[in-house]
Parts: sequence; structure tokens; C-alpha cells
Amino acid sequence: MAETFPTLFSQIKLGPLTLRNRIAMAPLTRQMAEADGTPNDEMAAYYARRARGGLGLIITEGTYEQDAFQSRAYLSQPGIANDSHQAGWAKVFDAVHQHDCKIIVQLMHGGRVSDPRVLNGQPPVSASATQSEGWSLYTDSDYEKQIRAIDGPWDKVTFGPARALTVEEIHQIADGFAAGAKRAVDAGADGVEVHGANGYLLWQFINPKTNLRTDAFGGSPENNIRFAKLVGEKVRAAIGPDKLIVLRLSQDGVDDFVGAWPGTTYAEAIGAALKGSAYDALHWASFNYLDNRQADDATPMPTVLRKASGLPVITNGGIADGPQAEAALTTGAADMVAIGRPIFAQPDWPYIVRSGASYDWAPFDRKYVVRPPLDYGLAYPLALTDPNWPAI
Ligand SMILES: Cc1cc2nc3c(=O)[nH]c(=O)nc-3n(C[C@H](O)[C@H](O)[C@H](O)COP(=O)(O)O)c2cc1C
Repeated sequence: MAETFPTLFSQIKLGPLTLRNRIAMAPLTRQMAEADGTPNDEMAAYYARRARGGLGLIITEGTYEQDAFQSRAYLSQPGIANDSHQAGWAKVFDAVHQHDCKIIVQLMHGGRVSDPRVLNGQPPVSASATQSEGWSLYTDSDYEKQIRAIDGPWDKVTFGPARALTVEEIHQIADGFAAGAKRAVDAGADGVEVHGANGYLLWQFINPKTNLRTDAFGGSPENNIRFAKLVGEKVRAAIGPDKLIVLRLSQDGVDDFVGAWPGTTYAEAIGAALKGSAYDALHWASFNYLDNRQADDATPMPTVLRKASGLPVITNGGIADGPQAEAALTTGAADMVAIGRPIFAQPDWPYIVRSGASYDWAPFDRKYVVRPPLDYGLAYPLALTDPNWPAI
């Protein structure tokens, strides 16, 4: 049994943490916190169930770190901005730690793609005064309207025009990330992941298409990544050397699936700029980690970043089974893998993979996104009612 996917199931030292294997749960927004952002018992059960499934690391769903500066991005999104949030997360961390699994909180700021319904009439903020052409996810089907009890014509929620942040505000937002990180570790988290991916605020700075600044925070790859580096430094100062700090990066945004990053050349510059930064590791987010949209180069983007930064890379995107995960680890594309949609559907994914048992790939369905009243029914592979797995 132990020889099945030997790299995947070997320990890894990531920053200050030793993880029992190389499988992370990717951050997955569920919108199941209380309306005020407090994590609830349902979330503790959901995360603990997946920790029990044999993961080495859980990276939580994107969490807002402060109430100011339009940080919140979603309805029912969890926060880590006040005592109530902190107490809620403490229950989640306790529940997860009982299963020998580490957990870090993903800290995010929605920037220009924050749901207008959580902005209280304020304009969203971004690197520059731009407006996303996309629309808010999760409210565009009858099923979702019904399941979330939304009345009225909610077919599309468009994003408003964003205003550019001042340099002073950039520093204040970075301070907010640090304060959120401090609350997270005070509540028992093993570290944090800074969300620089998927179209949100830090990505809007990293992406040359949305960052039109001409000051120290725009105009070159080194300047575009400066905000994310500043956040890393402030977070490190707040939580010290014994906690893990990861930076998540991606080419695409939730409102831009054509690949805003130019490809290899740009990733090399970003990776080089992150060398020696406060981050212990990078995390590549995509729907297919083998992608590289630079026409003359087929090297997977996480391979490029790993080489350029010299940092360990958690690689995510389209990894569905053991052979694919092991291949990512043994071909230079990853030090660890992060699994998203399969873990939504199959909390025992690590055990199932290690056992070599066949299992159904649960196709992604939007029903996994919103408050999941059917979570446990959907989540459990029917053929495995009582796996009684040995320790992993
Ligand atoms: C419903 C849903 C919610 C997601 N929420 C987040 C999130 O909160 N933070 C984040 O960085 N990525 C988020 N992602 C992206 C996933 O982490 C991951 O990159 C994506 O699902 C591809 O990985 P997979 O092929 O293993 O599913 C989300 C994806 C989905 C489908």
C-alpha cells in the first residue's frame, strides 16, 4: 500500500511545517458562513470531514481580513476581521487538528470584482480606475436563485467602476492582511495563504492589463508584484517565523478566463522578484496546471515559476487522480499538489487514491458552490460506506 504513489504520500517540510503528505485541499469558496462572516459549526464539520479524509494541508476558502476598504467579496463569505470571526475559526482549526492535518487561512481582498451587494454603495477599489466586464458569479441560474432564496431579476450582477487606491491605502490594506493573519494564528491556524490569484485585488496589481499605474506599484513585473510582496512582509512581521505563509498566483481571473498573464516571460520575472521574499512557498491556481498560453513555450507555468523563484510550489488545476498527482510531483511541476473540485465531492480522496481503489470523478457542478444543504449526501462515495481506512 505504501508504495502507491510514493512521492505523493511522502512527508514534506514546507516552510516551518512538516506535512504528512503532499496533498493540499485547494481553497474553495462555499459561502456558508453566517451573514456577518462568522464561521459556523457547519464549516467546522465540513473542514474536519476533509481533514479526516487524509489531507496533509487544508487551505481555507477566501476570507476577508478587514471591514474597511471594501475588502469583502461575497455574500456569506467568512471573515477574520473581528473577535466573533476569530472564535468561529478557532472551532474550525480545533476540529481539523484532531485529524492530524494542518490548516492555513486564505486571506483575500476582492478588489474590483467584489459583489456590489456587499459594498454598501461604495465603489470597489483596484490598482487603477478600471471596470471588470464580467459579472458576479453564483447568482446566474434559476437553481442558485432558488437555493439562496433570492427574489427578483438577478440574472447578472455587474461590477461597478473601480477607483484606484492611493499608496497610503495600499499600505493600510497590507496592514489589514497582517492583522487578519495575526487573528488567524491566534485562533490556532498553522499559517496563511495570501490570495494573489483569480482576478482579485492583488492579481489586479500583478496583471499588466488591469494595473495601469506609473508609480512604484505598477509599470513593470517587479513593480506589479510589489504590493503582494509588501503584504508578505507585513504578515511575516505579524506572525513570526514559525507559521507558513504562501502566495497564490494564477494567470486567469474569475472574470477573465482568457489568461491575462502573458506567459513564460512574465512568470519568470514575477518568480525572480519573489526570490528571497517573505513567502515560504508559491501556489499556482488554474484549471489545468499544464497550461502555458505563451505560443512558443509549452512548459507548464508552475514549472516556470518554481525554477525562477527557487521556492517550493503547490500546484493546482485539473489533477483528478493518483497518477496525475504523482506525475506533477516527479516532472518538476510541483512540490505539493492542491486538489479542488474532487475534494468537494469526495472527502476521502487521499485515502481512495492511496488504496488504488477505483472511484468516480464527480464532475464539477455549480450545486457544490453555494450553501450546500446536501453536502454530506453529495460528498460520500456510495461504494465506500465505512472505509475504516488505516492511518495515512
Ligand atoms: C466553487 C469554487 C470555489 C472556489 N473558491 C476559491 C477560493 O475561495 N479561493 C481560491 O483561491 N480559489 C478558489 N477556487 C479555485 C480552486 O481553488 C481551484 O483553483 C480550481 O477549482 C481548479 O482546481 P481543481 O481542478 O482541482 O478543481 C474555487 C473554485 C471553485 C470551483
